[in-house]
Amino acid sequence: MSEPDAAAIQEAAHLLRAGRLVAFPTETVYGLGADATSDAAVAALYRAKGRPAANPLIVHVPDLSAAEPFAEFDSRARTLARTFWPGSLTLVLRQRGGRISPLATAGLNTIAIRVPDHPIALQLLRATALPLAAPSANRSGKLSPTTAQHVREGLGDAVQLVLDGGPCRVGIESTVVAMDGPTPRILRPGGIPVDEIARALDVPVLAETTVQTLQSPGQMPSHYAPRALVRLNVREARANEAALTFGALPMGAARMTIDLSPRGDLNEAAASLYASLRTLDETGATSIAVAPIPERGMGIAINDRLRRAAAPRPEK
Ligand code: TXA
Ligand code: MG
Repeated sequence: MSEPDAAAIQEAAHLLRAGRLVAFPTETVYGLGADATSDAAVAALYRAKGRPAANPLIVHVPDLSAAEPFAEFDSRARTLARTFWPGSLTLVLRQRGGRISPLATAGLNTIAIRVPDHPIALQLLRATALPLAAPSANRSGKLSPTTAQHVREGLGDAVQLVLDGGPCRVGIESTVVAMDGPTPRILRPGGIPVDEIARALDVPVLAETTVQTLQSPGQMPSHYAPRALVRLNVREARANEAALTFGALPMGAARMTIDLSPRGDLNEAAASLYASLRTLDETGATSIAVAPIPERGMGIAINDRLRRAAAPRPEK
């Protein structure tokens, strides 16, 4: 793998300033970046993803001081930013400044913002000197990309340039926390475990991902889905199925089995989740059988994504 050099970063920054789309690696998944201050660039981003316009985007900045012009940080939000940024935590805060395109925030008075923990992403953010709206670089509803190759396969010509940083280290999207009311609410479990957030704040945190009201489209039931159907908590796969297991649990006679982490490490499992689902999908099996995954630490985010992959699909 050859890392993008300074010239590639400059080229990417030039394209972004001209309103074009550039995919770049973050520690979680690859993002599809656009100038968050440009209506035209953000509109092109929604088109490239086939994403419903009511689903707002995360704005990426290189550090806390670059976030402050766009969002109101109270002391708890500042504590979380200082503890976890750069890192896999997205804060939903009251918006300020009026510079971000209302398309990026879907017209809400809040903004989702984060500082990614990846050298290429940070170099790009500094080189553009722009806040970048960046959803995962996949077609809406599909599996998120954790390699540059996944991005090219999913988006093709819709993306002008893909910066290749190799496989993503965390492998699952950021944890989204709403800090716009009296109690912090988890809108999407992700790369920073919820108990670490509660510990940093020393207050209880509400897990809202199961409520019915649509707070965050990461809460939409069917999402992060492969082509094959997904069956959860399976102990014995059928012979014609592909199987995903964990911690060396035997799955029976599946046509292909991938173990997310034979030694039972949930971080390792998260890092290979999406690539493994892709590989199993490519076997052409009509369903993927998934072993039980422990509901703790990163297992909470893994199970959230697997439940959405297994949810009933909207009709096409
Ligand atoms: O790890 C990540 O977060 C990746 C990388 C590229 O940074 N990005 C990502 O973006 O996952 P996306 O667009 O796929 O997910 C953004 C999530 C969605 O669930 C969206 O609904 C939520 O953040 N969101 C964005 N703005 C929001 C807001 N103002 N209020 C509530 N939820 C919001
Ligand atoms: Mg996404």
